[in-house]
Amino acid sequence: MNKSQNTMHALVWTAPRAMEMQTLPIPVLEPDEVLIKVAYAGICGSELSGYLGHNALRVPPLVMGHEFSGEIVALGKDVTTLTEGQNATVFPFTACGVCAYCVQGMPQLCVSRKLLGAHRPGAFAEYVAVPAVQVFPLPSEMSLRLGALTEPVACGVRVGEWVGAVAGEVALIIGAGPIGLLSLLALKIYGAKRIFIADLDPARLEIGAALGGEVLDPRAVDVIQVVREATGGLGSAVSVDAVGAAMTRRQCISATRALGRVVLSGLHEETSAMPVADVIRRELTLQGSFSYSPANFSEAIKWLQEGRVPLDPWLVEAPLLEGGLWFDRLIEGPGGVAKVLLIP
Ligand SMILES: NC(=O)c1ccc[n+]([C@@H]2O[C@H](COP(=O)([O-])OP(=O)(O)OC[C@H]3O[C@@H](n4cnc5c(N)ncnc54)[C@H](O)[C@@H]3O)[C@@H](O)[C@H]2O)c1
Ligand SMILES: [Zn+2]
Ligand SMILES: [Zn+2]
Repeated sequence: MNKSQNTMHALVWTAPRAMEMQTLPIPVLEPDEVLIKVAYAGICGSELSGYLGHNALRVPPLVMGHEFSGEIVALGKDVTTLTEGQNATVFPFTACGVCAYCVQGMPQLCVSRKLLGAHRPGAFAEYVAVPAVQVFPLPSEMSLRLGALTEPVACGVRVGEWVGAVAGEVALIIGAGPIGLLSLLALKIYGAKRIFIADLDPARLEIGAALGGEVLDPRAVDVIQVVREATGGLGSAVSVDAVGAAMTRRQCISATRALGRVVLSGLHEETSAMPVADVIRRELTLQGSFSYSPANFSEAIKWLQEGRVPLDPWLVEAPLLEGGLWFDRLIEGPGGVAKVLLIP
């Protein structure tokens, strides 16, 4: 850190599979922005595909990072609603503010939305500048470590909005990464009776089991058959795909009962073949779930505050300069890690 000299350290993605620490200028604030000193910044699954160069949204050189917490250390001259010294997290989408989606509280669906850490420099740095309207102050008793989970938890809150009436029902989740695990917590909160969760990684399955899921290794069992047997042959009321591969999308459709819902949240593949005739003949609802609204963000802070997100044992803290290493590790096999939090 060298605030007096106006420079900072940042983790810069320079090319597919290449990250390096660089010294960059501390961002200069626009009148409506605030400067946040980053405390914790999580690595998102979508950034892993970005790192590999599989994601049109992200172009190097880029400072990624959109899941973070920190302290407000400077205010642009027009900012009156926040104060220096406040701990905060940030809704990472900037949007037009006037379109039908923005006006209805869904800036994440605005056609001109921009994502922090993709379209503008993100939080894998000592400091990040963000528009004040996107800042969510954290409750005073909440730790910055917990506050950094707001964004991924909000993805789970959104999935929870789309799962429909699941109280007393059987559900399936494929993928036990952060998105799948947080979907599991959402389904529990909404009262699902049995929640099957499948993953290829045994350590990730252990986390799923500890959170109350009934875990399935798709290499050892036929996921669809297990779900059908548990439901008198009908299938799950809702299935959540938290991977986004052709196979997992297909499995979710096949495992879901007639009139059930398939929530698609995994983005691993842009396009994939799916058994659409099956969707038609069993009148399934295919529902996309994309990020979160500001209301989902507030709800996520509430879930964290109420202790409803018991992921603490599976959080890994690492210095920002080891960020590149952690990107590689997460791609190779996540092990027993729910989320890596980088510390500048
Ligand atoms: N819709 C959204 O708003 C949103 C938000 C964040 C991330 N995502 C996307 O969701 C996906 C998951 O994100 P994450 O952060 O949990 O990522 P992650 O990569 O940490 O987790 C994916 C998990 O899927 C498992 N997996 C892979 N192939 C599988 C298979 N065939 N069967 C069962 N499990 C399998 C992996 O072992 C891993 O545990 C990514 O594609 C990410 O881009 C979507
Ligand atoms: Zn994310
Ligand atoms: Zn808009």
